[in-house]
Amino acid sequence: MVARDQSSWDKMPDMPAGHFVSGLVYTDPDIYRDESNKVFSKVWHFACHESEVPDKFDYRVFVLNGQSLFAIHGEDGVIRTFLNVCSHRGAKLLDQPSGNARSITCFYHRWAYNSQGSCTGIPRASGYDDVKKEAVGLREVRTECLHGLIFITLDDGASSLAQFIGPALDRFSDMLTGQPLEVFHYNQAVLECNWKAWHETNMDLYHEFMHVVLRQTQVNAMPMEDRKLIVFDGGHGGSGGDLKAAYDGYDGFAGRGGDVPPLPGMSATDFRFINLFPSTAIISRGTVVRIDTVTPIGPDKALLEMRGLGVKGEPVEHRRIRQKHHNQYWGPFGRNVPEDMVAAESCADSFRNQAGRYQIIARDEKMAGQDDAILRAFYSEWGRRVGRDPGAPVK
Ligand code: FES
Ligand SMILES: [Fe+2]
Repeated sequence: MVARDQSSWDKMPDMPAGHFVSGLVYTDPDIYRDESNKVFSKVWHFACHESEVPDKFDYRVFVLNGQSLFAIHGEDGVIRTFLNVCSHRGAKLLDQPSGNARSITCFYHRWAYNSQGSCTGIPRASGYDDVKKEAVGLREVRTECLHGLIFITLDDGASSLAQFIGPALDRFSDMLTGQPLEVFHYNQAVLECNWKAWHETNMDLYHEFMHVVLRQTQVNAMPMEDRKLIVFDGGHGGSGGDLKAAYDGYDGFAGRGGDVPPLPGMSATDFRFINLFPSTAIISRGTVVRIDTVTPIGPDKALLEMRGLGVKGEPVEHRRIRQKHHNQYWGPFGRNVPEDMVAAESCADSFRNQAGRYQIIARDEKMAGQDDAILRAFYSEWGRRVGRDPGAPVK
């Protein structure tokens, strides 16, 4: 028999655990709750790049685990993060995505806070017998910066960011710190899929064939067996050595190799990426870096934020070229990201009503080529944290 009847379709595959993922991980509301409590409440999460809050009192608002937060560059030079919630009756303090606020004054009853989270003003405070400014500061969450990347965790008891990341970003330190970088592109999209379906597109090299641009610039640019992949403890994984691209293979991309200086430690045709558990990807194509963060906003809905970075203070012409390099692949009309969105939402369509039963992540190419090892490392860590087998997450 070639095609399968319903009972055969429903049966989980005869493969080792870890080689397939149940479709329920994308749709089950209890699993979604577990992810919120056991993953997103615990991990270090990429919030923004330091260039987004360069000056004192600059702030950047973001969302994690359904909560609005903001990172702010303090008067003392320290970047801190707070829940974007007024201590009085809970109004949202900052309603713009970014800005500069010497004093953060709530619009509702005008309670005020400073950049270190202290409450500095309560109108007509004499009317309160039992409210003291010292007791109504903002909720601060732990914030650490690594290679210019600002991470936060909602878990006051979490181990350090360095322990969480381990050596996964070591190969990115030159690129990210060799010269100051800044975000020149920010774009967000609400995806009609589970957050993991998006992150999978960044961990899965096997889908390169889907992208015309990658068929023509990447899959034949070097022998598959020379494309080394690597995974780290904690569910992180990416390229072990640099992959190559042959840009002359695609109309309009010729010259991409040498028309602007590459980032430190990269050649213009290098392709290097790392996926940080659970939901951030850092991807460089020699001259530019892209940072993706996907944040769940429901079992079947995710907020995707995409940043492009170039060299701070570079000549206008270099910036223009770097933006072009970024957007050719990763802009809203680029040849890469929009196609990935179609793929992620297409899988979600199948799993939404359990028409699809599982995904196969069984490719073994000895940590090279298009091995699924990065996906397996991710799901191994996911399973450990949520306490469920990704292949059979619901008993
Ligand atoms: S809710 Fe913010 S001052 Fe009242
Ligand atoms: Fe893709």
